[in-house]
Amino acid sequence: MDRHNTSSKIARASAPGKVILFGEHFVVYDTPAILAAITRRVEASAKLNDSKITIKSDIGLSAEYAFGNSGERAGSSVQDQASARFLDPLYQLVRDLLVKENTTHGVEVEISSRVTHGIGLGSSAACCVAVAAAVSSLLPSCLSDKANVCKIATESERLIHSNSSGADCFVCTFGGLIQYSRNRGFSNIESNHHPLSFIVADTGVKHSTAELVSLAKKFRESNRPQFDNLANEATQICNQALGAIKSRNLEKLGNLMNQNHSLLQKLGVSHQRTDQLVDICLNAGAIGAKLTGAGGGGAVLALADGSAKQTIASKLRDKGFSCFEAEIDYDGLKIPAT
Ligand code: PMV
Repeated sequence: MDRHNTSSKIARASAPGKVILFGEHFVVYDTPAILAAITRRVEASAKLNDSKITIKSDIGLSAEYAFGNSGERAGSSVQDQASARFLDPLYQLVRDLLVKENTTHGVEVEISSRVTHGIGLGSSAACCVAVAAAVSSLLPSCLSDKANVCKIATESERLIHSNSSGADCFVCTFGGLIQYSRNRGFSNIESNHHPLSFIVADTGVKHSTAELVSLAKKFRESNRPQFDNLANEATQICNQALGAIKSRNLEKLGNLMNQNHSLLQKLGVSHQRTDQLVDICLNAGAIGAKLTGAGGGGAVLALADGSAKQTIASKLRDKGFSCFEAEIDYDGLKIPAT
């Protein structure tokens, strides 16, 4: 049954990007990680139409899939390869929602992102969360509560990164600062009375999470005792970081970030450009700096306070690197009333 008309209702939702403060890569092997949602968002809008699913993103990707009244419920697509790689998982997410609703309509989705893609800032997770929420809130059953959106988005993100832990979708949906480990799941870290502030810098080198995860896997297979030592150190760093966050000991936190970066260098997932940016940030007054996410280029995260933030940002820009100031986003998914 389909009670909807394809009138002009437009549903909107937005979700933040994320950074990994501690524990990337080692988290794949059961050690803990600390992640934070950041104050940069992906916005999605959705509108019902008669005959197809269209997805457009402001990074120049677009795709169109037959659906609804056009009769091709399984979906066929019209798009280039780059668009297919990024947008097919979102299409599947949208299609599954429409099929579950038993609707004959299609939907038009538009995505606008301030989270740079391909540098470890959770842009795909934030897209999945924002699109799942916008489309869900258009439909009669309106299952756009955070728990449901997080579940749908996590399934979709696994089509992009098959080994995804789900941590990105979790933090992009619920916001804040979280601790995650494979065996213990997620827990919130109470720090909203003591916000942290960062500079996030872009090395300009895109990375492939899958390739870097496989590089770390090879390291582990051929140097198991060394890997286990690094993983033990990573666990201790993460545990000490929890204490430093709770007591707002920024010096200690920054020092732990530097130590974490050095572990990732030993693991072989840093990059010459990443190390250069870490040095620029530290020399310009960052309290600590490290790669964030999978590495191999990607983004650098620097903990900074007060006027040091402007100094770091201008040093980075002088050398031709783009960067932005960020704080922890405590809102997570937002669905404005329509
Ligand atoms: O996709 P990124 O750059 O945020 O990196 C993912 C973090 C890893 O620990 C490297 C992989 C994972 O699944 O946790």
